[in-house]
Amino acid sequence: MKISCQNVWKFFGEESNRITALQDVNLGISDNEFITLVGASGCGKSTLLRTLAGLETHSMGDVLVDGQAIKGPGQDRAMVFQHYSLYPWLRVSENIRFCRQLSLHTQNRTSADVESASGRADALLKLMGLTTSAGAYPNTLSGGMQQRVAIARALMGKPPILLMDEPFGALDAQTREVMHDLILHVHRLERTTIVFVTHDVEEAIYLGHRVVLMAPRPGRIDSVYDVPLPAKREQDMKLSPEFTRLKRQLLDRIRETSGMKTDLEQLERLTQIAEEGSMP
Ligand SMILES: Nc1ncnc2c1ncn2[C@@H]1O[C@H](COP(=O)(O)OP(=O)(O)O)[C@@H](O)[C@H]1O
Ligand SMILES: [Mg+2]
Repeated sequence: MKISCQNVWKFFGEESNRITALQDVNLGISDNEFITLVGASGCGKSTLLRTLAGLETHSMGDVLVDGQAIKGPGQDRAMVFQHYSLYPWLRVSENIRFCRQLSLHTQNRTSADVESASGRADALLKLMGLTTSAGAYPNTLSGGMQQRVAIARALMGKPPILLMDEPFGALDAQTREVMHDLILHVHRLERTTIVFVTHDVEEAIYLGHRVVLMAPRPGRIDSVYDVPLPAKREQDMKLSPEFTRLKRQLLDRIRETSGMKTDLEQLERLTQIAEEGSMP
C-alpha cells in the first residue's frame, strides 16, 4: 500500500504556547518500500508515525493510504513500539493470537477463520524463531525475544503497512543486528510497506531504501536520501565506502540542523579560552 502526506501540519498546545511538531510535511512512500525516519529527539518522528497510524489527528493537510484519507487506526496498519506492550498474563502464542481473536469475535467467525488464524500464528512463531518459546510467559524472555513476539503480533492480521517506533531502541548492539536481519527478512517475505523510526543513523541506512532526515523546532523533513546499497543487505556493507559516506553526511546534517554544531563550536571556543588562561 502507498502512503502520501501532503502539506501535513501538526500543532500541540494553545495558540499562545503552540508547538509545531510537524511543519508542512510532504512525503510519498511506495508500496513495499522500507522507509526510515531519522533525526534528533523532538523533531516529530513519533508524531509523524502516530499520524500515519491514525493515533494522532493532524492539524492541516492530507494523509492518504492508497489515495484514501485515513480516519483513525485501521487493520491495514499495525504498529510496534519501543517498549514491548505484551500482555504479561498471556503466553507467547496467546499474545500473538489475542488481537486477531478479538477482531474475529466482533465479526461472524467460522471454524475456517479460526483454523487459518491458528495456521498464521504457527507460521509467525516459526518465522520469528519463537516456536520453542510458544508456551512461555513474556517476563521469562529476553528483550529481543519479547520484541519478536510484539512484531509477530503486529503481523498477525497481515497488515500491508507496518509502523515501527524505535522498536530496537532498548536492545543491546548484538541483539539489534540480529533483529535488523530478521526485519529485513520479514519485509521481503511479507511484502509489507515499512516506516521505521530511529535516532540511530547506522540503523536507518542499513534498513532503509530511503532515509528521511527530520529536523527539530519546528519538526520538519529536512532532506531525503536514497541508500546506495544492494536491496539484499549484509552486515559487511556497513564497512563499505558508500555506507560510510552516507553516514557521515547524515551525522553532519543532524548536527547542523539540531544546533549541536553550534554547541560543539562553543565548547571548542570555551576550551580555547581556558587553555589560554583567560577563563575566570
Ligand atoms: N502530546 C503532546 N503534547 C504536547 N507536545 C507534544 C506531544 N507529543 C509531542 N509533543 C512535542 O512535539 C515535538 C515532537 O515530538 P515527537 O514527535 O515525540 O519527537 P521525536 O519522536 O522525534 O522525539 C516535541 O517538541 C514534543 O515535545
Ligand atoms: Mg519519538
